[in-house]
Amino acid sequence: MLISPSVLNSDLGRLSEEIAKVEGVADLIHLDVMDNHFVPNLTFGLPVVQRVIEQTSLPADVHLMITDPDRWAPAYGDAGAYSVTFHIEAAKDPVLLAKNIKSTGARAAAALKPGTPLESLDGVLEHLDMVLIMTVEPGFGGQAFMSDMMPKVSRAHELGGAKLWIEVDGGVSHNTILECKQAGANVFVAGSCVYSSEDPAQVVRDLKALVGE
Ligand code: DX5
Ligand code: ZN
Repeated sequence: MLISPSVLNSDLGRLSEEIAKVEGVADLIHLDVMDNHFVPNLTFGLPVVQRVIEQTSLPADVHLMITDPDRWAPAYGDAGAYSVTFHIEAAKDPVLLAKNIKSTGARAAAALKPGTPLESLDGVLEHLDMVLIMTVEPGFGGQAFMSDMMPKVSRAHELGGAKLWIEVDGGVSHNTILECKQAGANVFVAGSCVYSSEDPAQVVRDLKALVGE
């Protein structure tokens, strides 16, 4: 069970200080790359992620919400990301892309928007280390958790078996993390829940306690 705080709703002008608040407590740090094409929001790209990876001891869990992951995703692996997630809706050759990410030494993952069925991973799943099931529409933090995604989490877990990690992202908090775990998720992204708190590290500890770690 891994907790991956998302910095999206933190003070991005003080990114390294914000990440330091959860260092030593969180398992991963979730970095949301948005290009204002795949999603209607814009964050940061490769140069910022490269510097973050140099400055933090937390393994980088990079979530690419971009239109051309085939071109860009492997570079995040080369930069030292622990895990690189591309959106299946955007990938032109997802099997080749997964292989290219893995050849950098990073774990390869594919994300599904709420409206994207698990069947979109037919022929791809066996090449992945992780599937990210979005529990909100990608683009913004602070949205309401979609419980109706839990059957998709369970099905992905069944299909992938023990070696496939299942990540949930969007609206994960004290109130929703247990149902994600019960459905079969083992990696939990928590954004506003962690960074809207005065004590982000304590929120991470609380979330870890809830999922039994
Ligand atoms: C949304 C991002 C999430 C976001 C989650 O598109 O992928 O990682 O930061 O934020 P919360 O936890 O506030 O829903
Ligand atoms: Zn994300």
